Amino acid sequence: MLTLDHVTKTYRAGAFGGGSVTAVDRVSFTAEPGEVVSLIGESGSGKSTIGRMILGLTGVSSGSLTLDGRPVRPGKDFYRRVQGVFQDPFSCYNPVFRADRVFSLVRRAYHPGVSDTEWAHRVEKAVRDVRLDPGQVLGRYPHQLSGGQLQRLLIARALLLDLSFLVADEITSMLDASTRIDVLNLLAALKERGLGVLYITHDLALGTYLAERTVVLRRGRVVERGDTQKVFGNPLHPYTRTLLAAVPRLNTPWDPPQPLESCAFHAGGGATDTDLYETEPDHFVACAQLPDCGRTSA
Ligand SMILES: Nc1ncnc2c1ncn2[C@@H]1O[C@H](COP(=O)(O)OP(=O)(O)OP(=O)(O)O)[C@@H](O)[C@H]1O
Ligand SMILES: [Mg+2]
Repeated sequence: MLTLDHVTKTYRAGAFGGGSVTAVDRVSFTAEPGEVVSLIGESGSGKSTIGRMILGLTGVSSGSLTLDGRPVRPGKDFYRRVQGVFQDPFSCYNPVFRADRVFSLVRRAYHPGVSDTEWAHRVEKAVRDVRLDPGQVLGRYPHQLSGGQLQRLLIARALLLDLSFLVADEITSMLDASTRIDVLNLLAALKERGLGVLYITHDLALGTYLAERTVVLRRGRVVERGDTQKVFGNPLHPYTRTLLAAVPRLNTPWDPPQPLESCAFHAGGGATDTDLYETEPDHFVACAQLPDCGRTSA
């Protein structure tokens, strides 16, 4: 199980390192094996920073981040179990090498003792598992493959490890609708195998598609989290409501969402408390004034 407990990240900012930005502010949530947790929030809310901390790519300023009770320690053993896939698949490939070089790198680092035949067999299986035809993708250069194919090859690479947790950061935002559904189905299949997934997105509709649990982030803080059906079926925080209202519906004319209603939490007026309140089992919200939250006048 992955556990974040009051995890905070403060970056130094400014030309002379004088200022600082708190990108992630006392964030707590857990992700169990076989569970997809979606992390949703506007641009700059700290989603990728959380993903990068989980992957050990950037340090935690305070709070604790553990996998099965042990602190995240980047290294070979850790990356065998935890991997990340990111928005832009092209950036993960070197254009002068064939795309399947990503597999040989995994072999060299993690499975040096495996025979050529056995390795070829494993690669083919992983490629088929991500619903690609090995004959069509292996041996090709990155520019000969589509973004969706490259993205799926990266997931296949992750499958060649003994993976327990995958951080998927906006992995579907560059894909067309049908490829996106393929990749989401693939994540759903991985979940069935017991993999935990942190699915980072700003697309609400995709988040609800496969996540059991949802964490809504705003300006580095969790404003609402819990069971996806509860968070979106009965959104309590004005920010969650605004996010939901901003999802366009095909059969209704565009009705611009209203600006955020007031709430003690985000109005900043003395609301320094980041504790979450459990309003029903597995449904937490960051406002002490519920159920009156959102009403500007009493
Ligand atoms: N290396 C860094 N140094 C300083 N500030 C940073 C750094 N990385 C991110 N930030 C700041 O931290 C905040 C959160 O950034 P982050 O990339 O985590 O947001 P995000 O939710 O992933 O946004 P997006 O949806 O646009 O990807 C932003 O204000 C960003 O400018
Ligand atoms: Mg990001």
